[in-house]
Amino acid sequence: MPAGEPYPFRCSAAGADDDTDHVLTRVLDPAALPAVGPLKHDFLAAETNPFVKYRKLLASYHAALAGGLGDAEFVALVRRLDDAVAAVDGQGFRVTPFRPRRVLAHELGMPRLWVKDETANVAGSHKARHLMGLAIWLEVQRALGTAGEPRPLAIASCGNAALAAAVVAVAAARPLAVFVPAHADPAVVGRLERLGATLTRCPRQPGAGGDPSYRRFREAVAAGALPFTCQGPENGLVLEGGETLAFEMISVLIEHAVELDVLAVQVGGGALATAVARGFEEARVLGLVRRLPRLVTVQSEGAAPLARAYDLVAERLVAAAGGDPPRGRRARAEWILESVPAAAVEEALRYAAAHRQAFMWPWEQEPRSVATGILDDETYDWLALVRAMLVTGGVPLVVSERVLKEANTLARRFAGIAVDATGSAGLAGLLALAAAGGTAGAEDLAVLSTGVSR
Ligand SMILES: Cc1ncc(COP(=O)(O)O)c(C=O)c1O
Repeated sequence: MPAGEPYPFRCSAAGADDDTDHVLTRVLDPAALPAVGPLKHDFLAAETNPFVKYRKLLASYHAALAGGLGDAEFVALVRRLDDAVAAVDGQGFRVTPFRPRRVLAHELGMPRLWVKDETANVAGSHKARHLMGLAIWLEVQRALGTAGEPRPLAIASCGNAALAAAVVAVAAARPLAVFVPAHADPAVVGRLERLGATLTRCPRQPGAGGDPSYRRFREAVAAGALPFTCQGPENGLVLEGGETLAFEMISVLIEHAVELDVLAVQVGGGALATAVARGFEEARVLGLVRRLPRLVTVQSEGAAPLARAYDLVAERLVAAAGGDPPRGRRARAEWILESVPAAAVEEALRYAAAHRQAFMWPWEQEPRSVATGILDDETYDWLALVRAMLVTGGVPLVVSERVLKEANTLARRFAGIAVDATGSAGLAGLLALAAAGGTAGAEDLAVLSTGVSR
């Protein structure tokens, strides 16, 4: 990104209608970071605010320092904003629990099942992490005097992301426009209105594919609003706030000298899984973990555009390699991992990035599932997830409504977490994987319980 750029959110070539997946990705410069020893020290520190604890891995921190702010000023800025969040929501950002759930693991016949519990996070889900990361960036620009004229914030969402955006926007004293579907949950709409957000209802138009709220959100951004959203292609910086979840998991794993074998993450728009996968990848580059867990992504039968895209990339890869892998997604994933050179994988991903519509397009039917938070028409952050699955030997799972409900009952009963069906969808993925024999040999498995049941 150009130094001093206040809004490095979207690739300048995005929207050129060139069928290319333009995503701005922040890249860590290990030379500008502490060595692994001091980093581990930070990871094991008792600090409870994740945006303070992992600040050296935030782009906003480096922008602040490059602009002349000191470490203490950055920390004070984060704590001020966090206090304002607490004044709105009753709580600020704290490291959330990540620990083995023995009763649940025993019930499922798994050796060790680690659960990251986000149900007590700000606004009741992990979503606020994405938006706090972005709000800190915006506050840094304000402090540096580089923000220019005040601009409103915009998001398209009908649930957790909108609630999280509204809480953080009030804390940052910024107006927020929320584009919601015609049939948004009245309880969510009421809370958004009480938080002062400006709501626009966006009915589906017959014959027009894709999410109408998303289209209206894009129009608002084109008119000057800042994308205060949870989709990486709309704003690459939202991913790094989500990465704090992975860093917290890694802190606990370091403490217990454990490496995860399997990580199952529910996928709607894909920002959550992308952020967590990237957090692990960066931690490996920095020497904080030795190997990456197998990434298993989880969607419902109601909408599974990521699984479709993954299959198309994997089939292309197999055809290019001229191989004959065994049948089935898992066997093919292992074959790719063992037999296809990394350069060929990168080449296939480059092709997919430049031919987006051949791999990712809106789900044809209006998506429906008990897991309402993973019903996005498209997996906006799809490409990073396809890569993460290919390089870790993971697979996309598409789970039935029955398994989604069963997982929710199990999480509530045996882990005592008041999670909703979206929040326990990762666990549903593990159930499906285990039923197909895909967890054999795995010692440490993990899921995230992402959203509280309202
Ligand atoms: C509770 C919860 N978990 C998971 C997700 C999926 O996150 P993403 O859309 O980033 O894939 C959502 C999205 O709304 C959610 O609300």
